[in-house]
Amino acid sequence: MRKNDGRTTKDGIRIYQQADYAGMHVAGELAARILDDIAAHIFVGQTTGEIDRLITKMVEDAGATSATIGYKGYQHASCISVNHVVCHGIPSDKKLKDGDILNIDVTVIVDGWFGDTSRMYVAGKLSRKAERLIQITHDALMKGIEAVKPGNTFGDIGHAIQVYAESQRMSVVRDFCGHGLGEVFHAPPNVLHYGRPGTGAMLEEGMFFTIEPMINLGRPETKVLADDWTAVTRDKSLSAQFEHSIGVTADGFEIFTLSPGGKYHPTYG
Ligand code: MF3
Ligand code: CO
Ligand code: CO
Repeated sequence: MRKNDGRTTKDGIRIYQQADYAGMHVAGELAARILDDIAAHIFVGQTTGEIDRLITKMVEDAGATSATIGYKGYQHASCISVNHVVCHGIPSDKKLKDGDILNIDVTVIVDGWFGDTSRMYVAGKLSRKAERLIQITHDALMKGIEAVKPGNTFGDIGHAIQVYAESQRMSVVRDFCGHGLGEVFHAPPNVLHYGRPGTGAMLEEGMFFTIEPMINLGRPETKVLADDWTAVTRDKSLSAQFEHSIGVTADGFEIFTLSPGGKYHPTYG
């Protein structure tokens, strides 16, 4: 047995074991494959409700379980957040219009392990300002991930994301964060997408968590609509998000939710 087997840190962060990475890879890969496969179903006139029905079927066909159906009363297999919706958009009968950008966020459970990932898509023609927002949001996520290694802190992750996004004159949403996950959906710590170097809990091998920055073209403030889920930018500016589930390794990180097809650009062209 390794010395840290079964441990939880003073911040309440669980330290997983070597064998647990395999379970996370299987769950993460399924979630990522679903995001690859749904790309062919995004077009002008499509509804987010139909996209969610297709995702529900993909989860079922894989013999997996949706983590979101029944979670705190949520009834769908995905969150689909269009344009100025920051996160937790509820699939509906509304049709996508030309130029709409959308985040699709899927969380599956496979053999008890959670895989949580999201990406951006576009219906029709991608505007240059939306393309820039999406590219910077993806790059901000990757800069956060590159800060992951034992000895760095969660503040280093948030700082890397914030410095980059703000250098591009975009803003980081403060009201939602990433989270520990593994054999549970949402566990400590809160993974902030802003912060100061050297602050927060120390990263250790065996920590599993998401990084999922939401970046706005305008101001960072959000509000939640009367449906109690849909979060939107207060100034109605466009918002984008990417999410990976990752694990800290001895010398860095592993991404559990890498796209099998390398599909990260919203047009998938
Ligand atoms: N997948 C989201 C996350 O990244 C959580 C969605 S919870 C739901 O943490 F209930 F809104 F689906
Ligand atoms: Co998440
Ligand atoms: Co998610």
